[in-house]
Amino acid sequence: MTEAELYSQYKGVYLPNHLHSPESLNHFEEFTFRTDDIIIVTYPKSGTTWTQEIVPLIQNEGDMASVLTLPNWDRVPWLEEKRALELNLDQRPSPRIFASHIHYSMMPKSFYKVKPKVIYVMRNPKDVFTSSFHYHGMVSYLVNPGTVDEFLAKFLSGQVMYGSWFEHVKGWLNAEDQDPCPFLTSCLLPCDLKESVSKIAHFMGKSLSEEVSAKIADHCRFKNMKQNKMSNYSLVPEEIMDQKKSEFLRKGIIGDWKNFFTDAQTECFDAVYEERIKDVKLTFVWDLN
Ligand code: A3P
Repeated sequence: MTEAELYSQYKGVYLPNHLHSPESLNHFEEFTFRTDDIIIVTYPKSGTTWTQEIVPLIQNEGDMASVLTLPNWDRVPWLEEKRALELNLDQRPSPRIFASHIHYSMMPKSFYKVKPKVIYVMRNPKDVFTSSFHYHGMVSYLVNPGTVDEFLAKFLSGQVMYGSWFEHVKGWLNAEDQDPCPFLTSCLLPCDLKESVSKIAHFMGKSLSEEVSAKIADHCRFKNMKQNKMSNYSLVPEEIMDQKKSEFLRKGIIGDWKNFFTDAQTECFDAVYEERIKDVKLTFVWDLN
């Protein structure tokens, strides 16, 4: 099926109809944030699921109950998705933890006023692309990626779900002129887990013992998270997500793009990257090569 059949345009970007509706987007626009809300923001395939595991564990000081009993989409729901309509998010006790794939410029009015805490998670865009290509091949509500060249052309021009990776990163990292931005922290996936736990815990104002930090880091290792059926998407029916084609928690490594890109594709990606990333305030950088 084509983009026109599977996606709708929202403020100029494609969103999959399976996950979003006019009602869910209206609910998102009207959403009232609280100052102590924590919003995990990612471009898809950048580490959302990983952060949906790590943040509740930090919040609950290592108590595993929520990550072992609640699917990630209920534990840390996406604010813009249809599922958010069913979860009585207004009734959740503070601090609430949400996710979003939406661009900075498209956030609800209340977001800019309240400025809740944002954890922005990023990843080498070539790995994002590689992960996304496989994902599009296994999910029935996304447009089939076609060949790598075809998908690359769409990805680089932002003709994919949630629009351009470049615009997403630019919008969020340039969100405030202040450096560091008081309400936003950013992380790289995959990364030193213990360091990430302590960085995110510090941002959340949580002080964890060495023992609890080590327990959280260990639970969030790729091979351990893969076993958690509340986070590995095995609860999703096969006709929607066919993990025989490609697993959701696929490889979880840095640099898988090297097994995937031809020299010509690398050259093409690098040229667009160099042009588009110039005006982004990156406080740290992945090794693009
Ligand atoms: P790969 O397809 O490269 O394996 P998202 O959750 O935003 O959809 O991102 C999914 C990507 O994050 C997948 O990448 C997945 O394997 C990776 N990932 C999820 N949990 C991870 C973890 N604990 N450690 C490393 N990578 C992880």
